[in-house]
Amino acid sequence: MTQASKTTQTPPAASPAKARVDEGGRGPATAAGWTAPPAAADGRIGRRTPDTIPRGFRNLLSLHDFERAARRHLPRPLYAYVSGGVEEGRSIRNATDAYDDHVLLPRFCTPVAGASAATRVLDEDWQAPFAIAPMGIAAMMGYRADLALAGAAREAGIPMVISGSSLIPLEEIMQVYPRAWFQAYVPPDEPRLRALLERARAAGVQTLVITIDSPVGSNRENNIRAGFSSPLRPSLRLAWDGITRPRWLLQTFLPTLWRHGIPHFENLYAERGVPIIARHVQREFGGRAHFSWDHLAHIRRLWPGRLVVKGILHPGDARRAVATGADAIGVSNHGGRQLDGTVAPLHVLPHIREALPDTPILLDGAIRRGTQAVKALALGADLVLVGRPFNYAAALGRQPGVDWAISILKGEITRTLAQVGLRRIDELSPDILLPRGPIPPGAIPSDGGQDASDQPADHL
Ligand SMILES: Cc1cc2nc3c(=O)[nH]c(=O)nc-3n(C[C@H](O)[C@H](O)[C@H](O)COP(=O)(O)O)c2cc1C
Repeated sequence: MTQASKTTQTPPAASPAKARVDEGGRGPATAAGWTAPPAAADGRIGRRTPDTIPRGFRNLLSLHDFERAARRHLPRPLYAYVSGGVEEGRSIRNATDAYDDHVLLPRFCTPVAGASAATRVLDEDWQAPFAIAPMGIAAMMGYRADLALAGAAREAGIPMVISGSSLIPLEEIMQVYPRAWFQAYVPPDEPRLRALLERARAAGVQTLVITIDSPVGSNRENNIRAGFSSPLRPSLRLAWDGITRPRWLLQTFLPTLWRHGIPHFENLYAERGVPIIARHVQREFGGRAHFSWDHLAHIRRLWPGRLVVKGILHPGDARRAVATGADAIGVSNHGGRQLDGTVAPLHVLPHIREALPDTPILLDGAIRRGTQAVKALALGADLVLVGRPFNYAAALGRQPGVDWAISILKGEITRTLAQVGLRRIDELSPDILLPRGPIPPGAIPSDGGQDASDQPADHL
């Protein structure tokens, strides 16, 4: 799906047979010729009632709730590592605020029964237009968290991106979810790069994500203040931070140590990396300061599968990545964790879409609501990535927690789609958005969009 295929507001010309499947059968025809929808067909879209919420998750009604609960659940240094950004936190704020610069302009009286969040990206069908973003060290937050994330993504039929900084070997994660993607940080030398790519290929990875937005280490002073380092340095303070979070200690940390020993960085290179808790070991950053487009071209030559380049903010870089052979690009400021004060990914998205009308575009950063995801999809993204909330969900509730977080976001997206008058993700376009604030007269064409002839013929 590309923007070219998204610019029309015309509802799909659903065949009667298709509409019947979507609506789960027709209701009785009335004297006036109306066909009433079957009971609950429309009201079910994105609907939640107290009795449909899984036990144990009654206080987790939105993705924000997972963050609040995780703050109480996780040891302070770990919560700081996941939640934090760099320096003043401006990149996080910019990314978050950008969604409010756009408001939704709904259209009504177009049939939306059977509205679906399903989509097609990179030649594969997915049940929802979002993916689980790559996140390092997740298995310190939740027990074997990467496996919980992979299992939930598999069940939900959405992409999950294995992190290059994960503590679980990518082979184990691929066994749980063979459609998972693998994100690599490029090793500093060619033999190690070759070996890592060969390892990913042997594990069955088909989609490789190269993150390019970390040429040097970032300034995460909040980590230092909170006592987080990578690797973690054993200390009385760290022990106290763990002991004062007994649920995390008993459900995540002790079972991990008991069954698997101290976790190591498993996916930075072909061979095992350093342990996550160590007194004197330095984590090798990887020497990425020299990384150039020539290196990306070399990766393209070595990697036979799909290639996604993540961490792009400049339209020129987006074009360059595609010219170098990327199959898709990821517009991202790394969750505000690299450079502070960057432009919001959402604000550059339309420019990148304009530069690359036919390339699949992924976008991430601060998406916590279905309405935010829909805004990004309307402005040109084909898929959005969501990070922190799924990390918290795995910490709080293992795979059922992630299942629940996914179902919340998917429900919100489906409901938003129907509420703006659409049924399919590929119908989203900038036409459903306006800039926030007063609208000058004449700025909204009253003859645009759906008219009677656009309506599916079988709705009356
Ligand atoms: C705890 C954590 C670890 C991350 N680790 C990685 C990583 O290993 N590789 C990567 O490309 N991005 C990494 N990211 C960035 C995410 O993939 C994604 O760009 C960002 O988290 C999206 O923003 P959100 O968390 O606000 O949804 C990490 C983010 C977090 C929060």
